[in-house]
Amino acid sequence: MDRPHDGTPPEGDAAPTRTAQPREEHRRHGRKVADMFGRIAPWYDLLNHVLSLGQDYLWRYRLARLVRPVGQGPLLDLAAGTLDVSTELLRHYPQNRVLALDFALPMLARGARKKIKGPRSGRIHPVQADGRRLPLPDACVDGATIAFGIRNIKPRAEAYGEVLRVLKPGARFCVLEFGTGSRRVWKGLYNFYLDKLLPAIGRVVSGDASAYRYLAETIKEFPDERTLEQEMIEAGFARVTHVPLCSGIVFIHVAEKAANAQRTDVPDE
Ligand SMILES: C[S@@+](CC[C@H](N)C(=O)[O-])C[C@H]1O[C@@H](n2cnc3c(N)ncnc32)[C@H](O)[C@@H]1O
Repeated sequence: MDRPHDGTPPEGDAAPTRTAQPREEHRRHGRKVADMFGRIAPWYDLLNHVLSLGQDYLWRYRLARLVRPVGQGPLLDLAAGTLDVSTELLRHYPQNRVLALDFALPMLARGARKKIKGPRSGRIHPVQADGRRLPLPDACVDGATIAFGIRNIKPRAEAYGEVLRVLKPGARFCVLEFGTGSRRVWKGLYNFYLDKLLPAIGRVVSGDASAYRYLAETIKEFPDERTLEQEMIEAGFARVTHVPLCSGIVFIHVAEKAANAQRTDVPDE
């Protein structure tokens, strides 16, 4: 795996933000997020499966299906964590390679130990990197994903800009993320789960209530699906659409780097 980890995300020449203050704030936020995922890495997979009642497998399966690479070149899995999406991508597209990028090395290391096995193991490449400064040349990937990662990146526009830069024309960027938790789902049952049960279960299993409070808070603050779609269009993506899963608890947004194809309301899988 590339780059040593000292508990902070890799530094570099971030794309300029308007003032020095937000830039420092974003750097601090990045460090906090990288540390937090570093801490919960040993529990991350178990808690994911338990807290989603096993639905996360299905969500990642749907995400991978929607990517439909434009060729047999590399795919980017950004905020790859413990590599669940990376392995799912490889299962769907065994002819492609997967560049699994994340700035929390303990997450990548755990995933690599547990999941990179068998004859195709050499086709997943975990690399420690910040999603706002991708160590990749322009127009080099045939498709990209981010699952439960975009919510953590500040500012999101920098990650969008980087993904657009590295995608080949016509290639898709598929974003799996929770819908905004500020809307009532299942008559408020889901909101109760988010506010009360999730931090409690997170605390019992991982001993880290703050990480799971952070999860609930970022879900509540996250833009709704239409705002996110608009944000991606403004960032320069073409043909942005979204698919709700699980009554809108999560959404997959599918966007493209501009090419000549036509828009469809529900993307083909
Ligand atoms: C909730 S986990 C998702 C992991 C994986 N994609 C999955 O589906 O399980 C979020 C991941 O985003 C990573 N992350 C957050 N901000 C990042 C950034 N700016 N650059 C790279 N990775 C980032 C974290 O380190 C963490 O591993």
